[in-house]
Amino acid sequence: MAARNPCIGPEITREWSLTLPRACSILDLGCGQGVPISEALIGEGFGVYGVDASAKMVGAFRRRFPEAHAQCASVEESDFFGRTFYGVVASGLMFLLSTDVQALLIHKVAGVLKSERKVSLYISPRILRVAGRADWARLNLTRITVYGQILDAEGLSVVGERFDEGQNHYFFTLKP
Ligand SMILES: C[S@@+](CC[C@H](N)C(=O)[O-])C[C@H]1O[C@@H](n2cnc3c(N)ncnc32)[C@H](O)[C@@H]1O
Repeated sequence: MAARNPCIGPEITREWSLTLPRACSILDLGCGQGVPISEALIGEGFGVYGVDASAKMVGAFRRRFPEAHAQCASVEESDFFGRTFYGVVASGLMFLLSTDVQALLIHKVAGVLKSERKVSLYISPRILRVAGRADWARLNLTRITVYGQILDAEGLSVVGERFDEGQNHYFFTLKP
């Protein structure tokens, strides 16, 4: 928690959130302590539902944001509150999951997005920065292609990509 740089991610998340209907519900997967991602969304008036596998993180989230909803569960097992959402954000989570679980998660996310306007955001931070520069470029290309294919199969098109201050890679996806 102490190591999380609160300047990385909130601005890009806020910009994305402002493309969603006002005060709608957003699912934050791997929400951690909620700072700064859920915090940015709550600050804009969205209803935030956080899921995290760590009881310690969920405890900190609940203390900080009593008005939000929080569930202590793995994203693999969570029922995602048994409801649908206008937006889903996963900051700093995908790179921790195996390829199979990433695909399962994208499938689950596609199922909880509202049918009329489906928007989601995936963030895949720093996963390949440890590799050398040439490897990074090659592996990054592979990753983008694979994500593109999985998202496409679930009916979610990649409509934008960005990098933030920490060189974290964001995929914006949309299902019209
Ligand atoms: C790098 S932190 C990111 C936290 C927060 N989203 C942020 O941007 O600061 C990753 C979080 O994912 C959670 N996590 C890891 N694997 C998970 C899983 N399979 N299901 C749910 N949460 C998971 C961890 O407990 C941790 O809080």
